[in-house]
Amino acid sequence: MLLKNRFVQSLGGGRLEQVGTGLVSFLQRQSLGAHKSPEKIAMIKKMRRDVRGGPLTNEAFLLHSLAKAQSKLAGDFAEVGVFRGGSARMLCEGKGDKALHLFDTFAGLPEGTDIDGGVFRPAQYACSKDRVQAYLKDCKNVHYHQGLFPDSVIDDEEIKQKKFALAHFDVDLYEGTKACLEFFYPRMVPGGILISHDYSILDGVSEAFHEFLADKPEWLIDIPTTQCMIVKLP
Ligand SMILES: C[S@@+](CC[C@H](N)C(=O)[O-])C[C@H]1O[C@@H](n2cnc3c(N)ncnc32)[C@H](O)[C@@H]1O
Repeated sequence: MLLKNRFVQSLGGGRLEQVGTGLVSFLQRQSLGAHKSPEKIAMIKKMRRDVRGGPLTNEAFLLHSLAKAQSKLAGDFAEVGVFRGGSARMLCEGKGDKALHLFDTFAGLPEGTDIDGGVFRPAQYACSKDRVQAYLKDCKNVHYHQGLFPDSVIDDEEIKQKKFALAHFDVDLYEGTKACLEFFYPRMVPGGILISHDYSILDGVSEAFHEFLADKPEWLIDIPTTQCMIVKLP
């Protein structure tokens, strides 16, 4: 339960996190490399080197696989919580021609609430939109939505009309995660997937999922990474 410890979590966002996740990602690469496509492993390694962090190898692998699978459905892709674009790169590499909507303040995290336990600092994980756009410049059909989510979509009639096949959340905090679920869930196509990072380690993220799902027919899928998923029923 080391990663659920709030003191350990409060050390995140700096050099220590980079070194720790780098080591875990390396070990996961060795393990996956024994049986998965070398090209895909190399792509993940390059992403982690380019953004100096990003999702761990297993998390990145899953995002890429889901992007490929969900690209067969109708609907756009979305990500809330982009930082330097590591997970967005995985979605881009798998999405084909699909539209991908990226939502972020591009100025880092907002203030958390009590549920989040004070493990993050406001503005942690700040990265400019220009920098992300430069990193993803070879990815086609990517749309940037800057601002605090969900305020950034309140007056956006175009995005509110969209349907989604895949929505990835990585916002670290309770309020943001809850807002993501409330906005995207009713807009998912049947078989659409909502996936979030940090479900099994951050109290705010897990609380948001549990509260949200309390009156829904779908079941939360807990997986061996820190992520969890919901598959939207017809
Ligand atoms: C841990 S980082 C995301 C990491 C990223 N997925 C990656 O691949 O490295 C969290 C991101 O969420 C963004 N964020 C958190 N809450 C937000 C909100 N309510 N609206 C917009 N962006 C938010 C932060 O600006 C930050 O870029």
